[in-house]
Amino acid sequence: MANMERANFGSKLGVILASAGSAVGLGNIWRFPCEVGQNGGAAFLLVYLACIVFLGVPVMVSEFLIGRHSRANTATAYSILAPHTKWSFVGLMGVVSAFLILSYYTVVAGWTLEYTVAAIGDQFTAGTDFTAFFNNFVANPWKASLYVVLFMLLTHIVIVRGVTDGIERFSKVMMPMLLFIICVLVICAFSMPGSAEGLTFLLKPDFSKITPKVVLSAMGQAFFSLSLGMGCLCTYASYFGKDTNLMKTAGSVAAIDTMVAFMAGFIIFPAVYSVPGLSPDAGPGLVFVTLPNVFNIAFQGAPVLGYVFSVMFYLLLVLAALTSTISLHEVVTAYVHERFGLSRKVGANIVTLSCMALGIVCALSFGVLKDFTLFHMTIFDLFDYVSAKFLMPLAGMLISIFTGWYLDRKLVQSEVTNEGRLRVPLFRFYIFLLKYFAPLAIGIIFVNELFK
Ligand code: TRP
Repeated sequence: MANMERANFGSKLGVILASAGSAVGLGNIWRFPCEVGQNGGAAFLLVYLACIVFLGVPVMVSEFLIGRHSRANTATAYSILAPHTKWSFVGLMGVVSAFLILSYYTVVAGWTLEYTVAAIGDQFTAGTDFTAFFNNFVANPWKASLYVVLFMLLTHIVIVRGVTDGIERFSKVMMPMLLFIICVLVICAFSMPGSAEGLTFLLKPDFSKITPKVVLSAMGQAFFSLSLGMGCLCTYASYFGKDTNLMKTAGSVAAIDTMVAFMAGFIIFPAVYSVPGLSPDAGPGLVFVTLPNVFNIAFQGAPVLGYVFSVMFYLLLVLAALTSTISLHEVVTAYVHERFGLSRKVGANIVTLSCMALGIVCALSFGVLKDFTLFHMTIFDLFDYVSAKFLMPLAGMLISIFTGWYLDRKLVQSEVTNEGRLRVPLFRFYIFLLKYFAPLAIGIIFVNELFK
């Protein structure tokens, strides 16, 4: 299986853009501002940055080296590196979680598509009640399901084309577009009346706000945003070439991802503070309920600008979401394709259809299935909670233990240094983080939250 003819990313740029495409997603533009808003602004950001640097990057390098060394899908990768042990369970857990995340992620991705259509159709006009607009849309079983299906089809089109012609080629087009749009929007937002207040909220820390809950949220957000734990980056790394510098790539991906998240904050908070009465802690509705208000109130004097701003903003969300759903899809498709010997196309079909079905169930949990709850959460909330606050930290901890303690140090060193060709001055620090710091830190934060 592992030595089957495997595709490869064609260029360094392709490697970085595809991986950054996986990382940059709704997590940055939708979930991040919403977490910042609910966890007290700047104080959250500092904890978040620490989580990215000391937990996220080391775990990312580990995923990279596991994937590239074994050149196989995530589940198989662990069985190759640790045959006949329970470690293969970690890989399999990744595949299952990627499947779960893809299903609920596509629901929100579908909303972004619907909002893009609404923005193009100039539906965000003054006087609309956006709370009702949003609630009606998400509760409408047909519409919500339709957009799940459409988004999954978009993802499918890229996946069936394969690694180089699909994932790499599309990432090379979509990521530059995304970065361009976000730069334009930041400039727009800085010229809005609430920009000073918005930036203060985002940049002036109030340390009394740092509680254990904030730390867990920051860690969950960091893992989610960097696409860690679910085998996305591990699967992509199985298509990396022998000369890819894993540390540098991880650094670049983390830097791009963090930059985009901050830029999203720089767009959203100035915008929110530009309209009196709106609050930054609106939760998941921030982007879908609060922002449309901004578009037509803040731009009352210049409706054309408001129109362009809103279309660009939702298009940005669609692009970000799509490069991420592609990476989640690839985890499961690579597994089905290699593990069961099915053709890539058949594998992709199976994944698309089953995720569509589960996605529709998640979508319906905002409407018809609203009252169906488990542990006081709707199916959608449950999927989000289980993946971001439970499976991801757990997987992060297991991956660091796997690389730090189980894997042969020579193998790790040879992967990180490309068989000795690269000088990696931080190697020992990296091993220290993986061996002691990451498992302990994740463990403490995790247990603290679990037994509260
Ligand atoms: N990182 C993406 C985002 O920020 C979402 C994502 C893609 C993801 N693949 C993942 C999250 C794997 C967790 C695990 O939106």
